[in-house]
Amino acid sequence: MNPEEFRAAAHELVDWIADYRLRVDDLPVRSQVKPGEVHSQLQTPPPETPQSFSDLMSDLENVIVPGLTHVQSANNFAWFPANSSLSSVLGDFASTGLGALGITWQSAPALTEVEELVTEWLRELTGLTPEWKGAIHDGASTAALVALLIAREKASNLSLAGAGLQGESAPLIVYSSPQAHSSVAKATLLAGFGQSNLRMVEVDETNFSMKPAALRAEIEKDIALGNKPAAIVVAIGTTGTTAIDPIKESVALGKEFGIWVHVDAAMAGSAMLLPECAPMFDGINEADSISWNPHKWLGTSLDCALLYVRDTELMIRVLSTNPSYLKSGVDGEVTQLKDWGLPLGRRFRALKLWFHLRLDGAEAIRGRLRRDLANAQWLGKQVTASEDWELVAPVSLQTVCVRHVPKAIAGDWQAIDLHTQKWAEAVNATGKAFITPSLLQGHWMVRVSIGVLGTEREHVANVWNLMQEAAQISD
Ligand SMILES: Cc1ncc(COP(=O)(O)O)c(C=O)c1O
Repeated sequence: MNPEEFRAAAHELVDWIADYRLRVDDLPVRSQVKPGEVHSQLQTPPPETPQSFSDLMSDLENVIVPGLTHVQSANNFAWFPANSSLSSVLGDFASTGLGALGITWQSAPALTEVEELVTEWLRELTGLTPEWKGAIHDGASTAALVALLIAREKASNLSLAGAGLQGESAPLIVYSSPQAHSSVAKATLLAGFGQSNLRMVEVDETNFSMKPAALRAEIEKDIALGNKPAAIVVAIGTTGTTAIDPIKESVALGKEFGIWVHVDAAMAGSAMLLPECAPMFDGINEADSISWNPHKWLGTSLDCALLYVRDTELMIRVLSTNPSYLKSGVDGEVTQLKDWGLPLGRRFRALKLWFHLRLDGAEAIRGRLRRDLANAQWLGKQVTASEDWELVAPVSLQTVCVRHVPKAIAGDWQAIDLHTQKWAEAVNATGKAFITPSLLQGHWMVRVSIGVLGTEREHVANVWNLMQEAAQISD
């Protein structure tokens, strides 16, 4: 494809994307395809000769679109907002068009320096102090792994330079909560700590937040056993109920016992832009690392997760490699992002954040986050005011966790669990909205996660009506 052919095709594609965004709210939210259907519809021998752009566009329209769950729909309340603002889409497009190669500062100085700039902007916007330095990663899972690798090396005195964990005399321990995202357990295992060295600290029964006294007890028990506490992972905005673990108490324990404190605020991190949400993040500037995803609620297209670290020197000692072919005359003067994460080559992901922040502005983003918080409070009030409906967790952010318990089945957990799954499926089968059933302390509840860019009060009112109807008729 030459640049002129690209120009024509790209114009058509951009029009198509704009039209898709205009009609996305009218499409069934949850994809209706059966497993294997997309693959079989597209199955052909590998193309030996060029195919027409119009045939490709027709497959995009007729096979790919139905094969998607439309998370950009204003009627999507599933999982968490995975917003993709069109301003950030432009930045992503520019990034791919430029085709820059980020392997060292020299290979793309602007790539490194725009990443420094946008992570500084977001540091300021979120109230982190200047000693924090950030970089973009693909996801919060990778960020958690990187944080735990640094924690491991801090606790083991840079054991990677010798026998690694295999040379350690005492097991290194990670503390988290059963409500934390599964990526925390995954990172713990991949960083070599081992399942038996991951402590799931008891949470409060009503707000599902990690109990500081229980955390202290676990740490002291490990020390008495001769184990070495290495990392505490604090969750701000757990995936299930957006529970808020106590940062302040955790960093105090971290300081007392020399333990690295990582904060996972993948979805909730966007709330740091709101001064009224600052109490949730009280103590954050004393933590060791924090990750959050602009590719969730903030609205920067996937993939865009941030990891901020205060001790960048230690981070670089853990992650740095320096093969001769990457050396240059400016080493020592510049940031080498290859030493801030796992991959060597990086895309110019900073462009999508740069476009997003410049074209939308923080003020409008804050306004939208506030709208979502107000909508969640509104829905929470409707639920508590309605007979047989209950909130199963505090509405701390934009997610509302509910159960419908008709009197006839009150106290019968088996029946309640069945009923919950049935009415949630009935809502989802309509295609008019999409919500997520999820287990909380062993029983089913439904999460209504508010926060898609286009979701206004009317969409929240619609999903609430659908929920009420489904709960009446689904038994
Ligand atoms: C609290 C929390 N942490 C981590 C993750 C994982 O994020 P990622 O998909 O960016 O790896 C999620 C995803 O939902 C999450 O909610």
